[in-house]
Amino acid sequence: MIDEKNDELKIKQTKEINEQKQIVQKPSIINNNPTEIEVDRESLKKKDKMEEYLKKYYPNFFANFELLEYIESGSTGIVYKGKTTNAGNKQLYSFKFCIHSGDKKNNKAKYHEIVNQKGLHHINICQILAFYKINDKDFFSVSELGKFGDIDNFLHKFMRRRYLSESFVNYLAKPILEALFYMHKRKLFHMDIKKGNIVLDSEMELKIIDFSSSFSYQGYAPDHELKFGRIGTGRYMAPEILNKASISMKEAQKIDIYSFGITIYYLAFGCYPYGLSEIKGGEYDKIVEKLNNAKFEIPKDFEISKKFENFLKNVVEIDYKKRYNIEQALEDPWIKGWDIIAEEKENTGIQENFIIRLISDNIPKFNEYMK
Ligand SMILES: Nc1ncnc2c1ncn2[C@@H]1O[C@H](COP(=O)(O)OP(=O)(O)O)[C@@H](O)[C@H]1O
Ligand SMILES: [Mg+2]
Repeated sequence: MIDEKNDELKIKQTKEINEQKQIVQKPSIINNNPTEIEVDRESLKKKDKMEEYLKKYYPNFFANFELLEYIESGSTGIVYKGKTTNAGNKQLYSFKFCIHSGDKKNNKAKYHEIVNQKGLHHINICQILAFYKINDKDFFSVSELGKFGDIDNFLHKFMRRRYLSESFVNYLAKPILEALFYMHKRKLFHMDIKKGNIVLDSEMELKIIDFSSSFSYQGYAPDHELKFGRIGTGRYMAPEILNKASISMKEAQKIDIYSFGITIYYLAFGCYPYGLSEIKGGEYDKIVEKLNNAKFEIPKDFEISKKFENFLKNVVEIDYKKRYNIEQALEDPWIKGWDIIAEEKENTGIQENFIIRLISDNIPKFNEYMK
């Protein structure tokens, strides 16, 4: 049985946390800006250029917020760290600017990201705290900040490692599954689970971000057949997505499971399964070819537990009919073993033994960073 009580408790805890964090802020003001603002999107990664843009098109920003530094960007968002101008509020936030102007290929407003994400209250899903329209196409949102950034950055820039220990991967795997379980129960697929769309906050709590590819299937029956386009990110895309297969709503939840599987495989070994590391993410035909001849293997020179190997095999299973669904993944012995670590985390206190023992051997700077 899935622990529903635990799920509800997490929702309650998250609500309480967010009440404390709530930004005191007026509702969104829709400015009378032109819909086509010609701007070099790339330049907005520079703080002074972003400030210039905001001064021109959203001057209200500065009455309430202050930009601190550029964090990262993806195909839809340019993300900054920032805070409120309220001196009593020391909290830092993430500001995601979705500015499509001048980018003809990608100029449709993706409010559905906000619509799909804002109603979610789960400790492992990044909470959107406010949303502002700049014009009909462009907008920004304010959300919880993942202090350690996304797990790709965490791995490469912060830990300076290609892969993590099995226990660390285990520590990250369960919260992703719990967040997916929560989303799927609310009839929402994320559709772009990957290292870059998962952040870690200052307490090493994991948060799923980026609902720009998410798909809400409210109103569909479980046996409703759906054909998805190639949505998501190259090597994380499930074979049924790459092959544009028709798939029932009930089975479509396994698309997120596959991407989750690729993510944790990478975290454990620093490479993708099925030889996908040899090709680029955008080479869809080559990815399909690799998957057609796929054989599940653990890279040489790695020793992992049999339980982990079995779990991995079931989550990156090519055939979605055989692949684990979310309930099976949460019930797997490798995942259930995590509770022992979770208990230990609660007993020892996060800043002390638990996390430090888990990772400090590999990152001498960790203790310094946590001060
Ligand atoms: N809440 C956050 N905390 C920390 N970093 C974030 C946060 N949101 C986004 N980022 C960083 O910005 C990048 C782009 O944001 P994302 O929401 O994934 O946009 P896109 O839709 O363009 O991929 C992420 O990969 C991550 O590195
Ligand atoms: Mg992203």
